[in-house]
Amino acid sequence: MMRQAGRYMAAYRKLAEKYPSFRERSEITDLIVEISLQPWKAFRPDGVIIFSDILTPLPAFGIDFDIEDVRGPVIQSPIRSEEGLKSLHPIDLDKLRFVGESLKILRQEVGGQAAVLGFVGAPWTIATYIVEGGTTRTYTTIKSMCHTAPHVLRTLLSHLTQAIADYIIFQVESGADCIQIFDSWGGQLPPDMWERWSKPYIKEIVNLVKKKCPKTPIVLYINGNGGLLERMKDTGVDVIGLDWTVDMADGRRRLGNEIGVQGNVDPAYLFSPHAALTEEIQRVVRSAGPRRHILNLGHGVLVGTPEEAVAHFFEVARSLEFESFFQ
Ligand code: CP3
Repeated sequence: MMRQAGRYMAAYRKLAEKYPSFRERSEITDLIVEISLQPWKAFRPDGVIIFSDILTPLPAFGIDFDIEDVRGPVIQSPIRSEEGLKSLHPIDLDKLRFVGESLKILRQEVGGQAAVLGFVGAPWTIATYIVEGGTTRTYTTIKSMCHTAPHVLRTLLSHLTQAIADYIIFQVESGADCIQIFDSWGGQLPPDMWERWSKPYIKEIVNLVKKKCPKTPIVLYINGNGGLLERMKDTGVDVIGLDWTVDMADGRRRLGNEIGVQGNVDPAYLFSPHAALTEEIQRVVRSAGPRRHILNLGHGVLVGTPEEAVAHFFEVARSLEFESFFQ
């Protein structure tokens, strides 16, 4: 579950009281490891996600940020012109040592019992924060830049592509077994614009990573991806994450059985009676078919989600007897 160590866990909230800065919680090795292991200890999922953020690598290539309580991510100096591009430099992985160290420790801690998952943001999604200066509902600044300053945006996206590819390879070499690319805001683009402004950069990242780490599976997730499924497949990733607005059976039909699918229980089901959640998990698993499916939510765990519901999700998942279920 994405954002698995997010604010729904009491253990996390307690730690957040003691260390109120998100940058601190996500940049000190001991805290990263402790938070990453909280959901693993509580629910024993098959994968442990490093506690981090898609914005974590930004300072390592020249962009400072903070995460404020109500506003969310804030970029102090957004890039909107040729001038702004001057602050960018190649990624300095030495500044991300805490990520490498944490992955190494997590790999040792979970041994053969779970996969360790690393993640990054896709260039387009990272660029929305760098250009808009934070979270946006409309994406008007970056979308208009596609027309008013295409060269600046292309230079920024190319820079992010190289930095993110280097960062993925660093995560894999440090201990990540699998990488998820979040193009969370790719679904805000009309599909033909996604083809131009997001897909080529993701494809390039996949090529660069596959050259160095051919065995590491790559998952691609887009929020609002119903119009993009076939296009996502063109990037060469191994698994496609579906949000909950796509029917899993339709997704499988459109993508075929050779590629992996991940998802896609509506996170709001975790607020419903357990019986309804049980049925929904079974429906999603059945719709995805017997092979190449990673059961997950269709987006991150929502704030306020009861921990018992998350526990129930994992109990149901584990109780599905593969052979009898698919007869
Ligand atoms: O432990 C894990 O499971 C990893 C958790 C995780 C975080 N960020 C920690 C976090 C993951 C997978 C991310 C990725 C991320 N960050 C994405 C892609 C996933 C998605 O949601 O589509 C995006 C778009 C971001 C950017 C981001 N970071 C936003 C928009 C926010 C504010 C969200 C909000 O609800 O306020 C963050 C902050 C953030 N990153 C939090 C967490 C747990 C909440 C802040 C906190 O705990 O102090």
